[in-house]
Amino acid sequence: MKPPVVDSPRHWLLGSAYYLRYDPQRWVPEWARRYNGLFMVQVPFVGEAAVVTSPELARRILVTKASCYQKKSRSYGVLRILMGDGLVTSEGALWKTQRKLVQPAFHPKRLDAIFSMKVDRTLHMLDELDEAGGSDTVVDLVQPLSRLTLDIISRAMFSSDSQGMARDVSDHIATLNEWALRALRHPWMLLLPRKLPLPFFSDMQRSLAELERIVHDLIRERREHPGDHDDLLSMLLAACEEDSGRGMSDAQLRDEVMTMYVAGHETTANAMAWILYLVSSHPEIEKRLHDEIDAHFPEGELRLEDLASFPYVRQVIDESLRLYPTIWSVGRCCTEAHELGGYHIAEGTNVLIPTFHFHWNEEAWENPRDFDPDRFSPERRPPPDSPHYFPFGAGPRGCVGNHFALQELMIMTILFHRRFRFRVEEGFKVEGEFLITLRPKHGMRMVVSKRTPQAPMARSKAAAPLTCPYSGGTLG
Ligand code: HEM
Repeated sequence: MKPPVVDSPRHWLLGSAYYLRYDPQRWVPEWARRYNGLFMVQVPFVGEAAVVTSPELARRILVTKASCYQKKSRSYGVLRILMGDGLVTSEGALWKTQRKLVQPAFHPKRLDAIFSMKVDRTLHMLDELDEAGGSDTVVDLVQPLSRLTLDIISRAMFSSDSQGMARDVSDHIATLNEWALRALRHPWMLLLPRKLPLPFFSDMQRSLAELERIVHDLIRERREHPGDHDDLLSMLLAACEEDSGRGMSDAQLRDEVMTMYVAGHETTANAMAWILYLVSSHPEIEKRLHDEIDAHFPEGELRLEDLASFPYVRQVIDESLRLYPTIWSVGRCCTEAHELGGYHIAEGTNVLIPTFHFHWNEEAWENPRDFDPDRFSPERRPPPDSPHYFPFGAGPRGCVGNHFALQELMIMTILFHRRFRFRVEEGFKVEGEFLITLRPKHGMRMVVSKRTPQAPMARSKAAAPLTCPYSGGTLG
């Protein structure tokens, strides 16, 4: 039996997919109440796509039946233009090999080497914020946050030797990111031939060609002068297959570098924007956060082992990712017909798993729309394989950069709130836009005021290391 097809509302041209695209937070819960865990929406020019709202079925797709699905949705099509066949977009044997090669570069132990770089870049951004106008300045934080996370991934990738070229890479990535946002907002533009002389295509192609050239130059330079680098590029260059001893080709390396840039900056920047917003609009939680940061902020520079002293910071981050999962949905395409929840899923069916819906599920969470970091206290925290909480995805295609991102968010949350207090500008409307990432639609205009934090604490030995609830790995 085929899953039920949504009968209303239906746009005269764009079918029910129009409502999924423009107002998912309203319609997905409404349809989930009407249908039983799985239903189809009409998609113009494509036919129909399945939406899964049952936690059990979502887990089957992502975890137990993952081999019956690939990533072929339109969003991944846009990403493929930018990332080629990197880890996010590749499939089958290529993906398997690449995942094995790339994963060790993101092991929590590897993060030690880049911790102080992340602290340094965050402090640099805060200094700039300070210089921009001192206290009570209104700033749209989306751009500065995006520049900061781009700066961090760029230095993590290329350490400090090629920062001139790496800066150019960052500029082009920013241009391409803007292009991808426009393409997702106006998907019909992608139906036009890319050879048409429209700025929409020519700007993107110019940036892509430039990037290609720079990244190839960076790779060639590193192959010729390997030196002693402790960065992602050197890890990727050194990675080779166990049986054959074969490393990555230049083309594959280019795709992985682009993938890390694109996957590794907007997601974290948007997550941080939502953290600042949520904390700023909940004064009691803000006070608890400030108290913890002030009580444990160490003398000298923040170090990796200090992170264990800030469990409430971590709870705030986890709860923010629950309310605003920056990857708000994951898409799959069925490659092998099978039965799911009593329905027949035909080969070629596109499937959408709206993560936010599970995070806001009333049956799993009490008052799910409230911001309550205590849901993530040690006693109440959901298990790592919870079907109701998976901001970094689940199963074999789960996020490879989760530790990287969580460490970065810890550093930023601590340092931002140590130095400043944030308030949304009066009259400014904060609204989410559901593109590939859940981003602040109109930006995040905030009044930034200096705080007078308490004196730093004399260094003592840190408590038990902070572990990652998704993988059990150590963060500090
Ligand atoms: C708050 C920040 C982040 C969030 C919320 C996030 C979320 C996700 C999610 C949900 C997926 C799975 C997508 C799917 O199943 O289709 C994913 C995959 C991925 N992420 Fe992240 N991510 C974040 C940061 C990062 C960072 C910092 C990097 C790298 C530096 C990264 C690299 C990747 C890669 C390479 C994949 C593809 C993995 C594969 O298919 O094998 N992400 N991410």
